[in-house]
Amino acid sequence: MASGQMQKMPEFVFATCRAGSEAALKREVAARHGGWLTPAFMRPQLMTWKARSPLREDFVLDAAFAAVTGFSIGMARSAQEVVEKMPAQVSAVHVFPRVVEEDGVPPEEWARMDEVHAQISAALPREPTSPWVLDVILGTEAEPWFLGLHRRGPGSHPHPGALPRITLPAEAPSRAWLKMEQALAWLGLDAPGRLAGCNALELGSAPGGASWALLQRGMKVIGVDTGAMDPRVLAHPNFKHLRTTAGDLPRAALPAQIDLLISDMNLRPGLVLRYVERLAAFIQPRWLILTLKINDADVEAYLPTFLQQLRRFAPGEVFARQLHANRREVTVVSL
Ligand SMILES: C[S@@+](CC[C@H](N)C(=O)[O-])C[C@H]1O[C@@H](n2cnc3c(N)ncnc32)[C@H](O)[C@@H]1O
Repeated sequence: MASGQMQKMPEFVFATCRAGSEAALKREVAARHGGWLTPAFMRPQLMTWKARSPLREDFVLDAAFAAVTGFSIGMARSAQEVVEKMPAQVSAVHVFPRVVEEDGVPPEEWARMDEVHAQISAALPREPTSPWVLDVILGTEAEPWFLGLHRRGPGSHPHPGALPRITLPAEAPSRAWLKMEQALAWLGLDAPGRLAGCNALELGSAPGGASWALLQRGMKVIGVDTGAMDPRVLAHPNFKHLRTTAGDLPRAALPAQIDLLISDMNLRPGLVLRYVERLAAFIQPRWLILTLKINDADVEAYLPTFLQQLRRFAPGEVFARQLHANRREVTVVSL
C-alpha cells in the first residue's frame, strides 16, 4: 500500500461535536451538503452521514459546529479488527472519548483511552509520511469502538478529539482561560516559549482568564474592556488595560504591530467583525482568535456569511470550530 493512498474509499463521513450542539451541527451540514450527505447515525456528540456519490480523498467536512471530522471506516472491538478495517496507512492514532464535558476529560477516562491506544499501537504499523490520522472514538465499555480517518491539514486539530489534556485551574480569573488554551493548542501555539515576547490585543478582556493565560506564556497583553480586570492581571507588569470600548479605542494607544488579535466581546458577530476589520487594517496581526457568540438561530444561519466576510481581510486561512470549552459560541482563527 503506498503511503497515504486509500485502498477503498469510505462512503460515510463523521463529525464529533460539543455536548448539546448535535442539532446545530446537523443543520449546518444540511445547509451546505443537504441532498448529498444524508444523516445516518447519531449518538450524543457523534454523527455520521452517507454520501450519495463517491467521496473524494481530499474531501473535508468543514463544519464550525464540529470538533473532529473525517471519513467513517466502521466499528471494531479489538486492535486486530482495527488493523483489518484500515483502508490506508496512518501516521498517528488518536483515541478519545465520545462524551466530553465542557470542562474536559477526567484522568481516569484518559487512562482508559491510553490503554486502548497502547493496544492499537502494538498491532498497527505507522507510516510517518502518511497524511492520515486514525480516530478511535470510545463510548461506553459495552459499545464497539468507532473508527474514523482524518487528513492532517492546517485547520485540523493536532490533539486527539480536539482535546488538549488541560483543565481549568482553580485560580484562573475566568473560564476564558480554558477557551484560550484550547485555541492556542489548535493553532499549534501552545509549545513552551512559543509566544514569549510576542504581543496580544484582546477586545473584551474582563475579567481576564484569557489575558492570564497569555501573560503566563510570556506575552505582553493589552486588554480592552469597560469592565474591571482581575487585580492579579491588572498588576502584571506585561499587562495594560484600556478601559474603553472597541469602538472608542484610540489608535495612538496601540503599538504599530500586534502578533495576536483576540475578540471575546459579547456582541453580535457582525459588529465584532466591523471592529476587528478596522483594527486589523493598521495593527496587521499575524494570528486572529475570535470567539463569535451564537445567541440565536439568525446568527447561527449567518455564520457562513460572517466567515466569508472575515476571509476578505484575515491575515491567512480562516477556520471555525466549536471547541469543547465554548458554550453558545464558536472559535474562529486565522493563521
Ligand atoms: C465573555 S466576556 C470576556 C471574558 C474575557 N475574555 C476573559 O478572559 O475573562 C465579554 C466581555 O466583552 C466586553 N464587551 C462587550 N462589548 C464590548 C465593546 N464594545 N468593547 C469592549 N469590550 C466589550 C464585556 O464588557 C465583557 O467583559
